[in-house]
Amino acid sequence: MSQITIHDLCKSYPNRRKNRRTEKDQEPNTQIGVLDHVNLNIAPGHLTCILGPSGCGKSTLLMIVAGFDKPTSGEVIIDGKLVTGPTSDNIFVFQQGGLLPWMTIYQNVELGLRHMQEPEEKRDKIHEAIELVELEGFQDHYPGQLSGGMKRRAELARALVINPKLLIMDEPFSGLDFLTRLHMREEVVNMHELFRKTTLLVTHDIDDAIAMSDHLIVMTDRPSRVRMEHIIEPGHPRNYEKDKEIAELREEIFFTLGVHYAV
Ligand SMILES: Nc1ncnc2c1ncn2[C@@H]1O[C@H](COP(=O)(O)OP(=O)(O)OP(=O)(O)O)[C@@H](O)[C@H]1O
Ligand SMILES: [Mg+2]
Repeated sequence: MSQITIHDLCKSYPNRRKNRRTEKDQEPNTQIGVLDHVNLNIAPGHLTCILGPSGCGKSTLLMIVAGFDKPTSGEVIIDGKLVTGPTSDNIFVFQQGGLLPWMTIYQNVELGLRHMQEPEEKRDKIHEAIELVELEGFQDHYPGQLSGGMKRRAELARALVINPKLLIMDEPFSGLDFLTRLHMREEVVNMHELFRKTTLLVTHDIDDAIAMSDHLIVMTDRPSRVRMEHIIEPGHPRNYEKDKEIAELREEIFFTLGVHYAV
């Protein structure tokens, strides 16, 4: 379980717009400010959901935490160590469409354990992960033979088998139908209660975030800062129709995101 400290993180990209319309755009070397002094403390074992307007820098933030991108200033410290590059041993980045189509589900899951020597132990671990996501009987199928939800579960098995200290998920449920999405939400919560991995998850769905989070973060528009943070008491299910506190939190998030008329 990893503890993450994000300290005064800023990120900007060069502005490469060809048609520079405003006076500011005409200046050479203008930058697009994406992250603006982001400070966060993520407790070990917490499932943290990040919400924010599209294009505000959520994926950029995740990539910097994973070490795939570098901040312009500021730092990310994971378990006391400054992040300077990808450390794939401890971090797993859950990618949608991350399964290799020419490999079976078993082989895809096995990829994470390619350094493991002991064949029996390896086989047990793979079967255990496949069972956990309820894909027994499908291990010899190819990704193309599975439904969208099943593929997402297979991707989850790939993450579990590696047993990372930190799990990073960028919109893991996008493109799934409503019911499958609810199942996946449940799956992630159950998995998290079982293993208590530190998890950073970006979603656009406020109800996903409320249902799953221990720690909920709402970012502002670009250049993005932390607008709101909330630690949600443990316990599921969380029903905003029955629980007044959850209803208030939901309303506050809608309001913070500037869509209060939608409630
Ligand atoms: N490699 C890059 N070079 C230049 N600009 C970039 C790069 N990556 C991201 N950006 C810009 O940074 C901003 C934030 O992008 P990012 O993908 O982090 O947003 P996001 O919050 O994840 O958006 P979404 O919710 O739509 O996925 C965007 O304006 C994007 O154009
Ligand atoms: Mg994104």
